[in-house]
Amino acid sequence: MKIVCCYFSGTGNTRWACEALLQQLAENGHMTSLFSIRKDTERPDLTDCDCLLIGYPVHGFNAPTPVLKFLKSLRKTQKKTPCYLVRTSGEPLKLNNASGITPKRILKRRGYTVYGEFHYVLPYNIIFRHSDGMAARMKLGLELRLPADAQKIALMQRFQVKRGPFCRLVSFVCRVEHTAMPLIGRHFKATETCVGCGKCESVCPQKNIHICDGKPVFGKACVGCMGCVFSCPKDAIHPALFEGWKVNGAYSFDAPPAADGEVCKYCNKAYLRYFHEGEGRNN
Ligand SMILES: Cc1cc2nc3c(=O)[nH]c(=O)nc-3n(C[C@H](O)[C@H](O)[C@H](O)COP(=O)(O)O)c2cc1C
Repeated sequence: MKIVCCYFSGTGNTRWACEALLQQLAENGHMTSLFSIRKDTERPDLTDCDCLLIGYPVHGFNAPTPVLKFLKSLRKTQKKTPCYLVRTSGEPLKLNNASGITPKRILKRRGYTVYGEFHYVLPYNIIFRHSDGMAARMKLGLELRLPADAQKIALMQRFQVKRGPFCRLVSFVCRVEHTAMPLIGRHFKATETCVGCGKCESVCPQKNIHICDGKPVFGKACVGCMGCVFSCPKDAIHPALFEGWKVNGAYSFDAPPAADGEVCKYCNKAYLRYFHEGEGRNN
């Protein structure tokens, strides 16, 4: 089976989840290819694709704008090609399922059929920094799910996630983020610790940052992925309204995984439920 995965990722979590899932599928003998949804990448050729995976991080209980634009730009097909959504989020809240509503609707209009949605909880790239132990437990949570998830794709299993009316309402209301982010993003600034290394310019999937006179200048196309803030080696980017929520620097996933008692106090029960589910334990 030829499986194509197209993903958007600001700080690497979604890329990593998609790569891990594809590796599992490749080991099972499938032909896989991976495409990053960025302003500077080529469109994938989906003509003889048997199964399409769409990867994205949850942004304000929705899929990020570049993902929706990418889906709208897909060539219409009559084949009803099977498709799976692969998303990552910082919290294991069921409300994050809201982020599948719009991608599913667009894909249906383009002639694709969403067979199921996979959800992996990975460390927050905004709001607060998880401990390395939590990051390691999240990595474990993903790795434990991969074999069964890859099997579902290989067997083209259909499964639906639950979404109530509240979920739909939240998705609708939070879509305001799509309009607000380009405005907020214009006010991102580099502080005096910036050395003009250009890392932010190269990571920005929107090609929204340009180095002028040794400092980054932020344009009008920010989607708030936090790639620039997260990857700045000097922690020099001041993300305007999000200053208090800034997370800088890659996580180390190599620490001993957090034990149940150490699991982050924020949404503790939801995290434990997610971890235990992956470990095949009942709460
Ligand atoms: C602007 C923004 C909004 C976010 N909104 C949510 C959210 O609604 N729910 C959630 O659980 N995580 C949220 N997150 C966290 C990310 O979904 C999570 O860290 C994700 O794994 C990042 O993936 P990436 O590294 O591929 O960009 C948000 C992150 C950003 C930057």
